[in-house]
Amino acid sequence: MLPKRVYLNGEFLPSEAARISVFDRGFVFGDGVYEVIPVYGGRAFRLAHHLQRLDASLSAIRLANPLTSEGWSGVFDRLTQEYADADQSIYLQVTRGVAPRDHSFPASTSPTVFAYAQPLKYPSADQIRSGVTAITVPDIRWLRCDIKAIALLSNVLMRQMAVERGCAEAILVRDGLVSEGAASNIFIVSGGVLITPPKGPFILPGITRDLVIELARHHNISCAERAIGQEEIFTADEVWMTSSTKEILPIVRIDDRSVNSGKPGPVHTRMQALYQDYKQAFRKGEVE
Ligand code: PDD
Repeated sequence: MLPKRVYLNGEFLPSEAARISVFDRGFVFGDGVYEVIPVYGGRAFRLAHHLQRLDASLSAIRLANPLTSEGWSGVFDRLTQEYADADQSIYLQVTRGVAPRDHSFPASTSPTVFAYAQPLKYPSADQIRSGVTAITVPDIRWLRCDIKAIALLSNVLMRQMAVERGCAEAILVRDGLVSEGAASNIFIVSGGVLITPPKGPFILPGITRDLVIELARHHNISCAERAIGQEEIFTADEVWMTSSTKEILPIVRIDDRSVNSGKPGPVHTRMQALYQDYKQAFRKGEVE
């Protein structure tokens, strides 16, 4: 279902009334960046972190941020009123705007700024309780996966491969190392240590990833940011995927091989509780 209202270039409009040019560089080149931000109890979760990552993505593609933090907050407040009682996710995208087709930047153009909010579609209770399955695929993306670029063709193709194999996610492998999921970050638990690949050009610096690490450190769960060899995911005690919309999902089968006993593990159960407690505290305004 499409959201009822959207924000487009300064206006709040019914979805059907929102129009962009066919010469928008987002449409023609995928020349833009985006963010996805969950909203709990009417408040955007980890907003400062998402806006910081947006700044990093925009500066990587050499576009000025069209709005201030207060400007973005104002847009989000208006958009989230529509479904005020529900947990929601905000999608925003900024493209380089409308110009005659030419790869190099146009001399002057204003960015296209688009955003909407919709009720958050959580994973099912069964997926959280029993876990999900994944396949491994070669990471066919470019060398700047740290930019949250709207050009997601490789991610789309890799996720579709997973779906066609009856799986929830594709785990991406580059040069024998796990980078991340098609739309998530990957964690393993091995020898009692929670491990995730380090930040760098090959992964998106996930906001959920950072919060999981923060919670682990705060609650004395041993945690390391280091490279994960492709084979390690088959010998790990637990494997998880994390994202703003899926939160923390256990992966219990990969390429038709069970992860450990084929059931979510105790470290996941603990982290899931810590994460939900944190969200609860956020709803009450006790944490940022
Ligand atoms: N995607 N890696 C990739 C490639 C992603 O697309 C995402 C999230 C993540 C997790 O990041 P975060 O924890 O900040 O959501 C990692 C969003 C949800 C999407 O494209 O819909």
